[in-house]
Amino acid sequence: MENKYRAKIVGVGMYLPEKIVTNKCLETTVDTNDEWIKSRTGIEERRVVEDDLACSDLGAKAALKAMERAKVTPEDIDLIIVATLTGDMVWPSTACLIQEKIGAYKAAAYDLSAGCTGFIYGLTTATQFIETGYYKNVLVIGAEVMSKIVNWDDRNTCILFGDGAGAVVLQPSQDSSGILANYLGSDGRGAHLLKQPAGGSSLPPSYQTIDDKMHTIHMNGNEVFKFAVRVMGEASLKVLEMAGVKKEEVDLFIPHQANIRIVEAATKRLNLSPERVVVNLNKYGNMSSASIPVALNEAYENNRICAGQKVLLVGFGAGLTWGATLIQW
Ligand code: ACO
Repeated sequence: MENKYRAKIVGVGMYLPEKIVTNKCLETTVDTNDEWIKSRTGIEERRVVEDDLACSDLGAKAALKAMERAKVTPEDIDLIIVATLTGDMVWPSTACLIQEKIGAYKAAAYDLSAGCTGFIYGLTTATQFIETGYYKNVLVIGAEVMSKIVNWDDRNTCILFGDGAGAVVLQPSQDSSGILANYLGSDGRGAHLLKQPAGGSSLPPSYQTIDDKMHTIHMNGNEVFKFAVRVMGEASLKVLEMAGVKKEEVDLFIPHQANIRIVEAATKRLNLSPERVVVNLNKYGNMSSASIPVALNEAYENNRICAGQKVLLVGFGAGLTWGATLIQW
């Protein structure tokens, strides 16, 4: 069926905390070293928020920048979708808290939980609302404060993550540009591989859960690595097939920024040259659902995206989840 309206990104924004934690800093707190972290992950440093900032603070700042670039006012916003696994509270939603901070009182607002794939899930959801004509201005935000759920004593995980937020505004396209296809996948059989076990209804907070650090990230790194390498390539090829676009036609590839070795494996599968791949994980680590929109924003600011180009976004994460979005800019 021919879409009545195509969803188009008309504004992008990001916010990153100023404080930088380098690999050298981590050498002083856990048994690790700069060389190990760089060679195994590609990460050199990451951003970490001050204690008094929460997810909604970062998300609101990124959203305001995207709205400024989209030339929309708070009253124009119809829907706010926030992808996060580090919301300010278990409930109410961080989307409602951001709504208050940006003054978008006419909007509906909700959070979406899909781990690091959250931004792709958010874009896909927003696409449906725009394509049907139900909404005209949708904000999709990926915001994370990973530093507050990391176990800073666990060298297996504390080196990987960082804080940040990215946002986009979507509107109905006036021409053939916009989102060409979205593809989503999930497999709950892998839910145990990557989780924050305590704090929910299966393991409510207690002195015991705190002592056992069950409210921090627990991850089977090797299994997640193998899964990521497989699905990044598969999801990319699937969304290209859905849009009838060849892999040679991809102008810019923006993968989830978890590990340079995962990015390189996906790049190889697509046979893309390095100048067509956006990498910023060296500066920010894995910002979960914020990684892709921050990378998109940086590509935009560095003039790496031009009108008419085909931009491929692909992610994977907790759930397990994965997904890809193909855009004609
Ligand atoms: N410094 C030094 N040594 C370390 C460190 C560290 N920071 N971390 C682990 N090691 C050690 C291990 O203890 C192990 O030692 P051993 O052999 O004596 O037991 C050795 O290094 C090798 O460990 P591996 O886990 O095999 O290392 P690997 O090369 O697999 O890299 C990593 C680990 C970086 C975690 C990798 O598996 C990875 O990137 N996995 C994917 C993680 C990911 O993408 N998560 C995304 C989350 S998405 C979301 O939704 C939040």
